[in-house]
Amino acid sequence: MASVLDRETAAQEKFLQHGGKLFIDDKWVDAASGETLDVFNPATGEVIAKVAAGGAEDIDRAVKAARRAFESGAWSRITPSERGRLLWKVADLLERDADEFARIESIDNGKPYSIARAGDVMLAIDMFRYMAGWATKVMGSTTQLSLGFEHHSYTLREPVGVVGQIIPWNFPLLMAAWKVAPALAAGCAVILKVAEQTPLTGLKMGELFQEAGFPEGAINIISGFGETAGAAIAAHPGIDKVAFTGSTEVGKMIVQAATGNLKKVTLELGGKSPAIVFGDADLDAAGEGAASAIFYNQGQVCTAGSRLFVHKSAFDRVMADVADRAGKIKVGPGLNADSDMGPLVSDEQLSRVLGYVESGRSQGAEIVIGGSRLGDRGYFVHPTVITNTNRDMNIVREEIFGPVVVAEPFGDDDLDKIAAIANDTDYGLAASVWTRDISKAHRMARKIRSGTVWINCHNVYDAALPFGGYKQSGWGREMGEYAIQNYTEVKAVTVKL
Ligand code: NAI
Ligand code: MG
Repeated sequence: MASVLDRETAAQEKFLQHGGKLFIDDKWVDAASGETLDVFNPATGEVIAKVAAGGAEDIDRAVKAARRAFESGAWSRITPSERGRLLWKVADLLERDADEFARIESIDNGKPYSIARAGDVMLAIDMFRYMAGWATKVMGSTTQLSLGFEHHSYTLREPVGVVGQIIPWNFPLLMAAWKVAPALAAGCAVILKVAEQTPLTGLKMGELFQEAGFPEGAINIISGFGETAGAAIAAHPGIDKVAFTGSTEVGKMIVQAATGNLKKVTLELGGKSPAIVFGDADLDAAGEGAASAIFYNQGQVCTAGSRLFVHKSAFDRVMADVADRAGKIKVGPGLNADSDMGPLVSDEQLSRVLGYVESGRSQGAEIVIGGSRLGDRGYFVHPTVITNTNRDMNIVREEIFGPVVVAEPFGDDDLDKIAAIANDTDYGLAASVWTRDISKAHRMARKIRSGTVWINCHNVYDAALPFGGYKQSGWGREMGEYAIQNYTEVKAVTVKL
């Protein structure tokens, strides 16, 4: 085992040894093929664990277990109150083990431990608590028919059934919580596929479901590659709904694969979110906010503020501030207490991000700061600020998913024209607006075509808020009441009086 384990607790070593298995039907099992995949520490490039590489046969086993739990009533007919209690219990267990989850997340994904602990793990705990409350609040309504009084009608909301969920590697535990908590609250049975780059915390969550006492098959957790395990979920005829978070490219493949049985589909895809700073903004707050909008989580955030637009009256000042902050970020291993930023998640992501920077450079963009790899061990990059771009460049149009922001001044004061620039993208996930003018802020919020608009803040998430995208950023909304709607079907019942 790699040296990083020397610093870990005995409990973690134990987990990393047994954590190689799939969680199917309340048991830990090897992949049917016997195959495994290597898990790397992105701070060192070393292999820290081997986990089962689940495939189509394992997905099929998990679907059968989930179907049994759902149809037999072992899961779907337990009371809403009991479902809520079980989800709350998972939150308590996660809270008990928060340090351990944060450490594993840091080793597996690369992000700083303190950020994993205060961000990812805390938000995951809150998601389970929030959704525990929804378990007892899934409601239909009575409806007055428009043609007459001879019938009495009402609606029921019922769980959609067996749900397959596919998550990415940028917030491994948190994405798992966002997916499974509402589905379970609604009474669905779940097959979760964790990302091949970061399978550890998602698999470990299986231990908590076991300890909490979930019925067999209600929740199954599979590690495996996208092209095999993920594709098997998208195509499986026994799955009623697939929920996906990841690239827009794979999102489109999921949609095609889902046509076989017309399973329901929700998608949380990429983004190229604008941060728009007006001249009348609190410029210190805007500089700090614009920097954290792009550098948080190494920039591997679907809502990252990756396009920065600043009014020309404030452009030089805000750019200097953002570049200064970029230069001061301490980049280092996530377990080092003084690291502000960790490595990118993988070798592949490192090449992708540096490739984008190179393409910008070769097309004449100016690298204000950063733009290169840091060190030769692990997948670290310097926080990067780029300007002198034009809107046809790949670095302006495509999601880079790294700590790279492209910045552009605007001279116009016409809000429609500013919004048109911000909206000049295939994506529509999020945006932030920085101004002291309350009316301008809300007018901009209406003009921007995205699922989230932040005013004088960026990357604020909450279990109670709907989250999702316009345009090619996705279909549907997660979290809040909307997540419950995603995992239920509506039935109209009509009685002749
Ligand atoms: P990806 O979309 O390939 O992977 C996300 C998840 O989908 C993983 O669990 C993967 O195993 C699964 N997957 C991959 N191919 C699949 C298929 N054919 N059928 C079913 N599932 C499949 O993303 P990847 O390759 O890790 O990252 C590439 C780019 O995607 C990033 O640079 C970033 O731009 C974007 N991305 C966006 C995310 C977001 O939160 N919106 C998260 C991760 C990546
Ligand atoms: Mg991929």
